[in-house]
Amino acid sequence: MSVKVIDHPLVQHKLTIMRNKETSTASFRRLLREISTLLCYEVTRDLALTEVEIETPLQTMTAPTLEGKKLVFASVLRAGNGLLEGMLDLVPAARVAHIGIYRDHETLQPVEYYFKAPADLSDRLTIVVDPMLATGNSSIAAVDKLKERGARDIRFVCLLAAPEGIKHFTEAHPDVSVFTAAIDSHLNEKGYIVPGLGDAGDRMYGTK
Ligand code: URA
Repeated sequence: MSVKVIDHPLVQHKLTIMRNKETSTASFRRLLREISTLLCYEVTRDLALTEVEIETPLQTMTAPTLEGKKLVFASVLRAGNGLLEGMLDLVPAARVAHIGIYRDHETLQPVEYYFKAPADLSDRLTIVVDPMLATGNSSIAAVDKLKERGARDIRFVCLLAAPEGIKHFTEAHPDVSVFTAAIDSHLNEKGYIVPGLGDAGDRMYGTK
C-alpha cells in the first residue's frame, strides 16, 4: 500500500484557491484542470520507456518513447471529469473509461448507473481519477468494477482525501497506490471532507 501526497508548491497554491468558497465556478474548473496536469506528472513519473530509432533533421538517433499499450484514465463521474481533462492534456493518446457512480445521500453507499471502458484492461496501466476520497465507498466500487473487467495495474488519483477514506480504500485495495494533493482532518456526519472544499461536482458545474 502506498499513499503519496503531492506537496508541489503550485499544487498547494492552486488547492488553497479552490478551497476558498468565494472562488468562482470558472476559476474552480480551470484550477482543477491545471492541478490535474501536475498530479498526472507525478502519477506517470515512473512509466517504463523503450528506445525507438528516429531521424532528426540532422541525423538518426535512438530516443526514448513510452513502452507498452496506451494507458487508461478511468473517470468516476461526474467530478472525475474535472481531473480527466488535465490528464488528457498531458497524455492525449490515453484511452478513457467512464464509471457512473453516485453516493446515496442517506446511506452514503455507492449506486452504479454507467460503465464503459476499453475492452482490454489487463495489460494497460489504469489511472482512476476522482477528486474526493471521502468515505472511499465510490472509489472502492469503481476499482472493484475495473478489476472485474480485468484491470491489474491500477493507480488512484484524487485532489483531497480524508483519513477515513484512505484507510477504507487501502484496506479494500492494498495493491492500488493513492496520489493526493492533501489529506484533510476528517469526514463530517454527512460524509463531507473537512475542511475540504465542499461538493466538488457542484463547485465545478455550478449546481447545488
Ligand atoms: N464528495 C465531495 O464532492 N465533497 C466531499 O467533501 C466529499 C465527497
